[in-house]
Amino acid sequence: MYALAATTLLFASAVLADHTFNVTVGPGLVFNPNSLSDVAEGDKVAVWFGAGHDIAQSTFAEPCQYMDGGIYSGPSPKDGDVFTFEVTNASAPMWFYCSVPGHCQAGMALAINPTTDRTIEAYQQAAAQASTTQPQSDSVQGGTIGDGSEAATESSSPSSSASASATSASGSASSSATAGSSAGQVRVAAGLMAGVVAAGAAFAL
Ligand SMILES: *[C@@H]1O[C@H](CO)[C@@H](O)[C@H](O)[C@H]1NC(C)=O
Ligand SMILES: *[C@@H]1O[C@H](CO)[C@@H](O)[C@H](O)[C@H]1NC(C)=O
Repeated sequence: MYALAATTLLFASAVLADHTFNVTVGPGLVFNPNSLSDVAEGDKVAVWFGAGHDIAQSTFAEPCQYMDGGIYSGPSPKDGDVFTFEVTNASAPMWFYCSVPGHCQAGMALAINPTTDRTIEAYQQAAAQASTTQPQSDSVQGGTIGDGSEAATESSSPSSSASASATSASGSASSSATAGSSAGQVRVAAGLMAGVVAAGAAFAL
């Protein structure tokens, strides 16, 4: 019985692993891809840098202008740095630009969960006529910057997470289970159910 529970937790933690969307900076004045849809609450976005750029959050109405309290990578990520942030409200479209003067005007922008009216193309069109404002402070806001080892691990596929050792998997399952929000609890329940189904499938083999 204990083994079954442990197996269930193992699968639950694999199912719970956050989804990470990769965005590459460049080559050229682009974020690639420049528009991400179906990003869910709790999903992460990892921006893989090449030197000479940054990423800052604006509103749709004021492209290329740093939004008060917005997400910011800091002014000069190095080649190979990865800036990771979490999407906390999937119903709110998010808009980003490179605050290096001229880059936003050239179309260097990123949309998360755009709508049919407010598209990345509409943002870029308005951005071409806008002036840039950079964040006042050099500090990283709303995310973390590192060498990418964390982002690469988080985004490993569910099947490779599932084959990780049972001890570390049950540890992360219990920490996920105490995470709290009601949305989190729904995801835990869904994960457990998926785990039961997956465990059943494993026993059937
Ligand atoms: C999420 O975004 C929507 C759309 O902008 C907004 O109406 C809602 O209040 C936001 N929810 C939270 C919890 O901030
Ligand atoms: C993101 O990029 C890293 C490094 O190239 C890779 O290991 C990882 O699998 C990618 N994740 C996704 C979801 O594509």
